[in-house]
Amino acid sequence: SANDRPTGQQQTGTYDSPFLRACRREPVPHTPVWFMRQAGRSLPEYHKVRKGIAMLDSCMRPELVTEITLQPVRRHQVDAAIYFSDIVVPLKAIGIDLDIKPGVGPVIENPIRTRADLERLRPLEPGDVAYVTEAVRMLVQELGSTPLIGFAGAPFTLASYLVEGGPSRNHEHTKALMYGDPQLWADLLDRLAQITSAFLDVQIEAGASAVQLFDSWVGALSPADYRRSVMPASAKVFESVAHHGVPRIHFGAGTGELLGLLGEAGADVVGVDWRVPLDEAARRVGPGKALQGNIDPAVLFAPREAVETKAREVLDAAAGLDGHIFNLGHGVLPATDPDALTRLVEYVHTQTAR
Ligand code: CP3
Repeated sequence: SANDRPTGQQQTGTYDSPFLRACRREPVPHTPVWFMRQAGRSLPEYHKVRKGIAMLDSCMRPELVTEITLQPVRRHQVDAAIYFSDIVVPLKAIGIDLDIKPGVGPVIENPIRTRADLERLRPLEPGDVAYVTEAVRMLVQELGSTPLIGFAGAPFTLASYLVEGGPSRNHEHTKALMYGDPQLWADLLDRLAQITSAFLDVQIEAGASAVQLFDSWVGALSPADYRRSVMPASAKVFESVAHHGVPRIHFGAGTGELLGLLGEAGADVVGVDWRVPLDEAARRVGPGKALQGNIDPAVLFAPREAVETKAREVLDAAAGLDGHIFNLGHGVLPATDPDALTRLVEYVHTQTAR
């Protein structure tokens, strides 16, 4: 009944939106579409409002966050908004000395590598991110029946930035800690699971209709290592937000060999990158979960006909699925032509209209 619906969905009338119906594997009027990293650098209107404001500062200004989150919804008519923030915002909020360097990504002055360093990772409290509560409330008012997706970084991906001190290709310090001091590693991931859970709670309680856990770099691990050293912490995050009743999406890049485990960790929807076709991904994930994906973001640089051919392949591979949300296989690349994204949304909507 309507009374059993999650608070945010009941207040804003998003419950029957195509996006949330697809997450619940119910029939949809058309395949819903949104794009990871849709809010941001591919849009000229984004550059205009961000001018002279540092990335992390922009995340703390509710009016600006609201405007940036709405920009791709207005422009592309996507079926969901994703909250404009970054995976390192909750770490900044508990006092970690990090910055987001343009063109580089998150950089941490003093990496976390010893037991003493762990003490710097105190629990996140809702009051630490009051600006998130305020922005989400503003957004759900503005969005009406369009759902808002909240998000957070998963413990492994956050640990990688904290332990390496910045972006890393090989994650060598992270793996050295994971293999060399399993107890310290487990304690680190446990603290990060608490921070991530609390950050998602804040967004859901303020009205987000769904959440996505980004474990962007977890494809660097073997299934055995993922199961042993990472999955317990991610499972704790999914478990801790389960009582809200909103769909939980789990995404990582390069995770073909991990797809089954990403679902098992507790997700309702598994995000798939472009390396595994969706019909094969469905076999790996197993029944009872919707899939999200999975056109290669680089395809958007090809001519319109080629983009449509690749989109058609994705839709054909998804034809037998029980719950499909169309997305890219990873985030929108900064130099993407925004019109190519708008056309892709329209293509998927018209091709799948029922
Ligand atoms: O998806 C959206 O549109 C919402 C906003 C969003 C940002 N970061 C804004 C951002 C989201 C969902 C994220 C998540 C994020 N941040 C992830 C997971 C998603 C993924 O792509 O796998 C990761 C790994 C990060 C860490 C991070 N922050 C990176 C790698 C970068 C890019 C560095 C660069 O400039 O090339 C950032 C910075 C960042 N986050 C920007 C934006 C719009 C660019 C900031 C700027 O240009 O000033």
